[in-house]
Amino acid sequence: MKGIHIIATGRALPKNILDNDALSRMVETNDEWIRTRTGIGQRHICEEETCVSLAVDAAKKAVEKAAMKQTFNKEEIGAVVVATVTPDYVFPSVACMIQKELGLSEDIIAFDISAACSGFLYGLEICRNLLITQEKKYALLIGSEQMSKLVDYSDRSSCILFGDGAGAALIEARDSLYVQKNWSRGDTEALFCKDHIQMNGNKVFRFAVSVLKDSMGKVLEKANLTMEDIDCVVCHQANARIIEHVRQKYPGHQHKFYMNIERYGNTSAASVPIALDELLEAGILKEGMKVICTGFGAGFTWSCALFEV
Ligand code: UT7
Repeated sequence: MKGIHIIATGRALPKNILDNDALSRMVETNDEWIRTRTGIGQRHICEEETCVSLAVDAAKKAVEKAAMKQTFNKEEIGAVVVATVTPDYVFPSVACMIQKELGLSEDIIAFDISAACSGFLYGLEICRNLLITQEKKYALLIGSEQMSKLVDYSDRSSCILFGDGAGAALIEARDSLYVQKNWSRGDTEALFCKDHIQMNGNKVFRFAVSVLKDSMGKVLEKANLTMEDIDCVVCHQANARIIEHVRQKYPGHQHKFYMNIERYGNTSAASVPIALDELLEAGILKEGMKVICTGFGAGFTWSCALFEV
């Protein structure tokens, strides 16, 4: 099966940090409760930045890194796909702004997708398929979110969770292992947003643990692999306790589950690419390693991909 190669990644976080102590001056909560129930210590919140500026920043970093690594012509980027639920405008899309700001060719397909926290993973499937059919070599996939626009800062059960940020990956097609499965189930009650995020935390928690476990099992089975074969697992960073439940299923492999939620909170579609960028930058994830990326979100949507980096 045609797989992908991540040539380079980038991330962008707003300068302003909202830590648990600052939040506890806004709503009735405290650092200890938030850390114990979620693993979150702080989140970055936009002041000057926007969803577009974060996306552009992360995408530029990925493209600059790619140019340092290999002979790379940005004219060969044939697709820009942005996963977001918080675009600056209803239209134009964030992706079109990236095409302009990065000076990419107009001979390109550029669009946003809406799949909440599963957006980057849905986007991976889309980009892989675009790379199979398009003439150009590369696709630029970005998850960018300004969740603070949608958060109700008087609702202590949800405002503690979310943060802003963006992550980008420049991808090319390669003959390598790639298995992905995606799901969707209509639900407008447990987690939805008209003006502000509304959530039944317990229901979402149970759903998340169940589908993350199930999707990883299904993808490993389809790839005919076990956790022994996997170098690293990147779960959508929504709650450290959700990841803890999932990794308990894999004794001996718990160290493979990456977590950075303490620093960023839940950045929705940006959480997986931010984690990938950190892992690659730190040299924990290296070319050829096998990684599982898995995520879930409003929709409900959920998705799991297993591939060689
Ligand atoms: O990308 C998908 C996005 N969403 C998620 O992933 C959410 C998944 N769910 C969760 O992360 C958790 O359900 C929460 C963190 C939202 C809530 O944690 P919980 O352990 O499920 O708490 P709970 O809702 O069962 O509430 C327990 C208690 C309640 O008080 P009583 O009724 O026991 O007196 C809440 O009112 O904790 C109270 N509480 C808080 N206390 C201090 C709720 N939020 C807070 C808070 N600070 N921020």
